[in-house]
Amino acid sequence: MSEGKPRGKFIAFEGGEGAGKTTQATLLENALRERGIRVEVTREPGGTPGAEAIRKLLLEPPVGEDGQGWGAKAEALLFAAARADHVERRILPALEAGEWVICDRFVDSSRAYQGGAGGLGDEAIQALHEFGSDGLRPDLTILIEVEPGQLTERLLSRDGGEADAIGGRDSAYHHRVAARFNVIAQADPEGFVVVDGSGDAEAVHQRVMAAITPLLEERSE
Ligand code: TYD
Repeated sequence: MSEGKPRGKFIAFEGGEGAGKTTQATLLENALRERGIRVEVTREPGGTPGAEAIRKLLLEPPVGEDGQGWGAKAEALLFAAARADHVERRILPALEAGEWVICDRFVDSSRAYQGGAGGLGDEAIQALHEFGSDGLRPDLTILIEVEPGQLTERLLSRDGGEADAIGGRDSAYHHRVAARFNVIAQADPEGFVVVDGSGDAEAVHQRVMAAITPLLEERSE
């Protein structure tokens, strides 16, 4: 860590497709900047040139003669590899320089999608994260929950029915993702805040600001 400079805070947004994570990350970025906090917004998979290249492989997978993209294990390894590069080259250096980092999805997406909905189990995903990123956890993970009916509407207007390889999986898969996110959050009440994502973006932003108040208070102590 740089001398005398307190480490920045690391905040991740999680939730299903169309939950409003990206909009909330931008609103939070602006609110933190207004308070004089240096902040970086980034996303997963991605955030570094290498991880963005892996993102493309994951979301538009090369399809073999059998018509299949990645198998479940290869997919989980690619997410973990992208994350390892992102953590080492971008997230940790920013935190150590005293900046706050807001990440649009982090390891709990792998736990919910690959571990939960994809059936690999939590232990396997945690082990990959331990190896790839020394098990780095956000200071706070904000899980935005939106009722499934509302999500379908938002996604249709956002993607016009053109989802990527993972977003386009069937609704049973996405229900398993949502259920697993909820279980993960309930198991770690200190590390998570579950925010109701219904209503307009400003209303959700107010809930997010209430959720991060303890982090802001720690900073001014
Ligand atoms: P993206 O367009 O960034 O997400 P969103 O639709 O929420 O804006 O696409 C990322 C996709 O990758 C999304 O379907 C979730 C999935 N994903 C995983 O399956 N595992 C992971 O670890 C991460 C980070 C994302």
